[in-house]
Amino acid sequence: MKDVEMKNVFVWGLVLAMSSSVADEVAAGRAKADVACALCHGPQGIASLPSAPNLAGQSAIYVREQLQNYRNGKRHNEVMSLIAKPLTDLEIAQLAAWYSAIKLTVEIP
Ligand code: HEC
Repeated sequence: MKDVEMKNVFVWGLVLAMSSSVADEVAAGRAKADVACALCHGPQGIASLPSAPNLAGQSAIYVREQLQNYRNGKRHNEVMSLIAKPLTDLEIAQLAAWYSAIKLTVEIP
């Protein structure tokens, strides 16, 4: 195989590996959210509890920071502080990936 072809195979391999790991992260986040978050934030990230915020389409950085803040006490809420406490960094990253991957369409009134 020529050098250039080898390089292309390598680059495509990397791209495929990266995209499948993002999909895995989103799928893992969705599975976790279905059991731990959907009751209040809705199965599609549109809140089913009137006092809970929508998370669909929210930026991953924002979701991650809020969950870290609830976990470390920087932000306090009776419910969310309890829920965030046992979350690992990996679970937080997966949950943030899931909610930020949900695509929203907006309709201006
Ligand atoms: C029992 C209901 C309930 C469950 C279950 C729940 N939440 Fe929440 N969540 C809330 C409420 C209520 C708030 C608003 C809290 C506040 O005012 O700080 C909130 C806030 C948040 C916020 C901050 C949003 C913002 O706009 O600042 C994030 C992020 C979040 N929840 C993620 C999660 C994740 C991830 C899970 C599952 C692991 C989860 N929540 C489970 C009720 C819930």
